[in-house]
Amino acid sequence: MMRLSQYFLPVMKETPKEAQIVSHRLMLRAGMIQQSSAGIYSWLPLGLKVMNKIGQIVREEQNRAGANEILMPTIQPAELWQESGRYDDYGLEMLRISDRHERDMLYGPTNEEQVTDIFRSHVKSYRALPLNLYHIQWKFRDEVRPRFGIMRGREFLMKDAYSFAIDAEQARSEYNKMFVSYLLTFQRLGLTAIPMEADTGPIGGDMSHEFIILAETGESEVFCHKDWIGRSLDAGEVDYSRDLQPIVDRFTNLYAATDDKHDPDACGVAPQDMITTRGIEVGHIFYFGSKYSEPMGASVADASGNLVPVHMGSYGIGVSRLVGGIIEASHDDKGIIWPEPVAPFDVVVVNLKPGDATCDAIAEDLYQRLTTAGKDVLLDDSDDRPGAKMAAADLIGIPQQIIIGPRIAAEGMVEWKQRRSGETSNISPDAAMNALVGG
Ligand SMILES: Nc1ncnc2c1ncn2[C@@H]1O[C@H](COP(=O)(O)OP(=O)(O)O)[C@@H](O)[C@H]1O
Ligand SMILES: [Mg+2]
Repeated sequence: MMRLSQYFLPVMKETPKEAQIVSHRLMLRAGMIQQSSAGIYSWLPLGLKVMNKIGQIVREEQNRAGANEILMPTIQPAELWQESGRYDDYGLEMLRISDRHERDMLYGPTNEEQVTDIFRSHVKSYRALPLNLYHIQWKFRDEVRPRFGIMRGREFLMKDAYSFAIDAEQARSEYNKMFVSYLLTFQRLGLTAIPMEADTGPIGGDMSHEFIILAETGESEVFCHKDWIGRSLDAGEVDYSRDLQPIVDRFTNLYAATDDKHDPDACGVAPQDMITTRGIEVGHIFYFGSKYSEPMGASVADASGNLVPVHMGSYGIGVSRLVGGIIEASHDDKGIIWPEPVAPFDVVVVNLKPGDATCDAIAEDLYQRLTTAGKDVLLDDSDDRPGAKMAAADLIGIPQQIIIGPRIAAEGMVEWKQRRSGETSNISPDAAMNALVGG
């Protein structure tokens, strides 16, 4: 619960000129973020609240899939990266730092080395496998072209998970768990993210999928079968203790590819069934065998007592990027339309005339009753003009609005507006309680 008069929500009326895509414009206008330097942002209360909700959904689905949450540092010692051989390979994207003792450190762009170091210190036997460790932590990559606000930042929040397995078969099963958990995670966020076969890039490896949401403002060109639209996986169907290969097969059999993998002759999709558009990468999973375990000596004893390097995979989700991705997928010309699971508040109660005894009484009463009933409510008790208040309510995208103006308040009524459909109706406060909370 929150009163707008006490909330730091610096909404902007003008459209910021520097923002090229709609999510960046709306995030600035809705007072969610503020740029600090190129590709580096502060998160203000509304933006932070949404990002935390996304992070929590990601966390719950990782936990459900059997991953263990940890928290690794942002600053890493260069030695670990020298061991894997990536210290020289990574190039200018890595922010290199030296401490007061002139030790080489770096701000982590990813954590394969760090997590392998944790693993090798403690795990010595195949009996402890499979194991998946993840964290939700800030990354820094000195991108050549940071752009589109938090969408391609230099500092960004990522969920990254790392799996350890005794052999290729167990590693595949770990990969499948993350693949399926990604489908469920993005669905809970109100998105259709399409898994597309991908190149493995600097992480290296044998098997990789990018999870991409369709959006014209996306950075990559994508091609997919039209039957992907609206496709979903029933969470009740998922049992992480069973073989998930049938589900993975079902979600990889239908064609989808980014332009670097797309082959119009071999895709087997008729032109009228193909969607050609752009997409935003919200997740990326990799299997890379012993690429890090071998050079870093992360070996365990197998069933016959032989020391073998473990098979690893890594799995990223762009938590901060998702805030923008969800806005790209869900907005209109008035502003953001949050999917309910990530909405910063459930309901906004807009008192159009604070100081008017009837408006105040109804607004305060509904604010309290909705809160008691378990809703997260924002009460707009500010002194702004009525038009500005209604525009701000639309801009910040809270799913349900209760608008209380002196005219209908005198009749003992309020206006109920659903942000997504724009549908409005005048109803009594009791009927509003019923509509928003249920009988
Ligand atoms: N510069 C960035 N800004 C915001 N999010 C990012 C950025 N780079 C990567 N991500 C997010 O982190 C996820 C995992 O990153 P990864 O695949 O390692 O990066 P990349 O695709 O840039 O090589 C990506 O799918 C994306 O959602
Ligand atoms: Mg990627």
